[in-house]
Amino acid sequence: MIPKTLTEAKEGVKYTPSEKDKVEVKHKLSDDKIQKIREICESYNNDQGEIINILHETQSTFGYLPAEVQEVIACVLGVSAAHVYGIVTFYSFFTMKPKGEHPISVCMGTACYVRGAEKVLDELKKELKIGVGETTPDKKFSISCLRCVGACGLAPVVMVGEKVYGRVSPDGVKKILDEYK
Ligand code: FES
Repeated sequence: MIPKTLTEAKEGVKYTPSEKDKVEVKHKLSDDKIQKIREICESYNNDQGEIINILHETQSTFGYLPAEVQEVIACVLGVSAAHVYGIVTFYSFFTMKPKGEHPISVCMGTACYVRGAEKVLDELKKELKIGVGETTPDKKFSISCLRCVGACGLAPVVMVGEKVYGRVSPDGVKKILDEYK
């Protein structure tokens, strides 16, 4: 039986997509986006055990995982929206908000933490006037925290997009930001 609504999906009705099947959930997504999500799920055989990989790929495609995207994934995989939400909020690499043009990631792994990552993070928050998981109103910067990024010798580490900055001090934060203004 095919769930026609999110409620049905929540009740555990397994959805098996086919060409003519329609996913009807309370969302504001375009058909194209729904189709893309279905393709991603299908590439993992709509396997609930692959949900982390599915969420990863969906986030890479859309940049973030808003509630309406989570609802479609829940419906397609036949799991509850609460289950998907629980995973998205548990792992720090998933985000429900769009990132900025220059996403800033502060490593909070042990080496970076003991070498002052928290002070660097505080300075970033002060300079940009946003908190962790937030984006500046002009959509230029967003801040997130990561676990060890594998560059402990450079601790504390900050990444702006793919670029890695090592041995960052609170005083050096402004200089980094100026590169992107
Ligand atoms: S703890 Fe930050 S790079 Fe390893």
